[in-house]
Amino acid sequence: MTEARKLFIKTYGCQMNVYDSERMAEALGAKGYVLTDTADDADMVLLNTCHIREKAAEKVYSDLGRLRPLKLSKPDLKIGVAGCVAQAEGEEILKRMPLVDLVVGPQSYHRLPDMLERAEAGARVVDTDFPEEDKFDHLPERKVTRGPSAFLTVQEGCDKFCAFCVVPYTRGAEVSRPFARLMDEARALVGKGVREITLLGQNVNAWSNDGRGLGGLIRELARIDGLERLRYTTSHPNDMAEDLIEAHGTEPKLMPYLHLPVQSGSDRILKAMNRKHTAEQYLRLVERIRAARPDILLTSDFIVGFPGETDTDFEATLDLIRAVGFGSAFSFKYSARPGTPAAEKPELPADLCDARLQTLQALLSEQQRATQEAMLGRELGVLYEKAGRMPGQMVGKSDYLHAVHVADAEARPGDLVRVRITASGPNSLAGERIGA
Ligand code: 5AD
Ligand code: SF4
Repeated sequence: MTEARKLFIKTYGCQMNVYDSERMAEALGAKGYVLTDTADDADMVLLNTCHIREKAAEKVYSDLGRLRPLKLSKPDLKIGVAGCVAQAEGEEILKRMPLVDLVVGPQSYHRLPDMLERAEAGARVVDTDFPEEDKFDHLPERKVTRGPSAFLTVQEGCDKFCAFCVVPYTRGAEVSRPFARLMDEARALVGKGVREITLLGQNVNAWSNDGRGLGGLIRELARIDGLERLRYTTSHPNDMAEDLIEAHGTEPKLMPYLHLPVQSGSDRILKAMNRKHTAEQYLRLVERIRAARPDILLTSDFIVGFPGETDTDFEATLDLIRAVGFGSAFSFKYSARPGTPAAEKPELPADLCDARLQTLQALLSEQQRATQEAMLGRELGVLYEKAGRMPGQMVGKSDYLHAVHVADAEARPGDLVRVRITASGPNSLAGERIGA
């Protein structure tokens, strides 16, 4: 028997990429590849890339450069680029990086094994099509590799065309996966020990199929015995249907946590971003969501320094943050992406953007700290994911998605327990188990 070949995958960017990397590992697993933790002992290195900001894309090129000595010492090593940089740059990657053997866009992962065969025969291959067939139909069955919490992609692509964003170009138009397939995949995951599923999509709350919206899908998934928790990400404010909001109030398995990017609090900038909602509409939406589930923890994404952003616009963003109170948030300096409408507009000075980002992050960190401290003394559900660093310690996620450390020598990953929160650190909480 020949020894298994080794595959190293580096994943950049969002959770969709984490999910896609798992699926690619499974597709190549069928070809005899097993995962390894380092590039050094790999027979194939796959970079699953992100194109959302310029820095993310440049990092891929510098990582590829760093693989050069390895490729020189191991000429049979195959190097592939997947994900959104692959989609956006295509052939260009082969031209710029002679060490790359294959380039595969996010819609073509089911063709990866064939592409690899051609690469092994000496060809350099590119596939960035948006094929008619659903890649998920052609990928092998899911393996559960990451403990009791799993991702499930329900929707891909985006039709929103925010003026700054490459996603509609790299991931294509919105496509919802069929209801029946998702139910089957979820049941299979639960059969393998999964207790929490996070539904993924670039615009997840636009999912619809078979007369159902995301709220309907969540209600059906919640009926699966053994599946204890549901989450979904990432949502656009304009697709928060009444039915989905209601599910937050009526479906106990739907966790009290929602990532709802707003990007800016200035109506002028929201309009220039083509977000198609105002700050006031976002605030009213938050009110409706909180009416359904008062304790929900909200998180968001912000961009500072969008072209034309004045001090007054930036102040409006700070006002919105103060008005909502976020549990945490991602914030970014605007990064011009070639091919997007905003890239045509003059950029603001870098030092101004740096200063605004610092101010914004200080406010968000303060809110994050306050949100965590408000957990002190509360009794929360915690789903253990793995053993902690201390002997007898477990680490899991609370209902609100905070990492929680608990001294619990008897427990195992996958246990869902009640915990009283006793301490709050910079990035996690600690607690004591009070029940099953
Ligand atoms: N520049 C900066 N941030 C961006 N994002 C998307 N495109 C850009 C860009 N061109 C941010 C948005 C989005 C998150 C995933 O990344 O905040 O919600
Ligand atoms: Fe990009 Fe806007 Fe679509 Fe989100 S909603 S993926 S920011 S275009």
